[in-house]
Amino acid sequence: MNAGNRYTGLINRYRSHLPVTADTRIISLGEGNTPLIRLKNIPALIGKNVEIYVKYEGLNPTGSFKDRGMTMAVTKAVEEGSKAIICASTGNTSAAAAAYAARAGIKAFVLIPEGKIAMGKLAQAMMYGAITLQIRGNFDDGMELVKQVAAHAPVTIVNSVNPYRLQGQKTAAFEIVEELGRAPDYHCLPVGNAGNITAHWIGYCEYSTPVGETVTQSCSFCNGKCTFACEPVISNRPKMLGYQASGSAPFVRGGPVKNPETVATAIRIGNPQSYDQALKVMSESGGWFDELSDQEILDTQRLLAMSEGIFCEPASAASLGGAIRDIKSGKIAEGSVIVCTLTGNGLKDPDTAIGQCQSSVLKTIDATLDQVRDSILQSMGV
Ligand code: F0G
Repeated sequence: MNAGNRYTGLINRYRSHLPVTADTRIISLGEGNTPLIRLKNIPALIGKNVEIYVKYEGLNPTGSFKDRGMTMAVTKAVEEGSKAIICASTGNTSAAAAAYAARAGIKAFVLIPEGKIAMGKLAQAMMYGAITLQIRGNFDDGMELVKQVAAHAPVTIVNSVNPYRLQGQKTAAFEIVEELGRAPDYHCLPVGNAGNITAHWIGYCEYSTPVGETVTQSCSFCNGKCTFACEPVISNRPKMLGYQASGSAPFVRGGPVKNPETVATAIRIGNPQSYDQALKVMSESGGWFDELSDQEILDTQRLLAMSEGIFCEPASAASLGGAIRDIKSGKIAEGSVIVCTLTGNGLKDPDTAIGQCQSSVLKTIDATLDQVRDSILQSMGV
């Protein structure tokens, strides 16, 4: 059959920038190619002249950006003969690992913090058939255990310490550049383990080459495992801005946080695995880290949903919340082009969403015409 123009996932799209060969069996669920949506109403509300785009990664096959890294990590694990993968997770990595393992026909083991992952993510890991181990501990405890057990059992780690994960995730930067025809001035991301902000910077660096410099770049983050000859596509690179939840903000505190806590469970991480890499990203890009309270995160999640019709999970809202604050304060200048990554889909965490809206928009009434009509008239103020 003629392949036509059917989209078949990011490895096929970005083959020349990824560590695969013509013989590699690609494990894909059609990830990537997510919408870059320009916000219409929020810039007007802020009253500043800025272009804000959101990269809606919640529309990936398992509902988060993790699918970008997982297609690469599982493809390479299978190519290298692995029969099982393992990860620690705050929920999204486990969902993606479980799905891609199912697709590949290998086993997935996932370690998640008991009682601290969103309902949708738990449902995904279980439904895709991962062996799901709830630990009485947090993500950081799980990560240590995964690293230890991988030394004693034939399992491949698919957390972002696996360099192939970052290679897959860098493609989000490629897509943004191709759509905008340039890099944004600022790229804002929520930061947990710090793999994604590192991966985006790899992508922007690979797609840009200062005038007069050589066009061959190697990825300094993965010990030269992935080296590609690049064509310069853009001449600018963004400042990378990383936003954390106040109760889980090791980059803002300047070191590991012992008992991280936040409503944004996806980024409830006290000891990021890509700590040094992310510091390097900041110094190279001229960006910064900052923190948001849980209330600011939830307010932004709701603002985005109610004023733009875009539903992201709490952690994802940290990127936009941080951007809005920095635009208002002038730290981000007027006239800037800003991209905020919305890392995961709001449907992942229905409990938190319902919890914050229930009292204001949910009403229980009798099943009568009178009560329905009265509710409508009352809400419309007529
Ligand atoms: N946003 C969401 C929705 C996430 O799930 C994560 C990480 C992040 C942001 C932070 O990305 O770790 O690359 O800095 N979730 C991981 C997980 C830790 O297990 O699903 P990061």
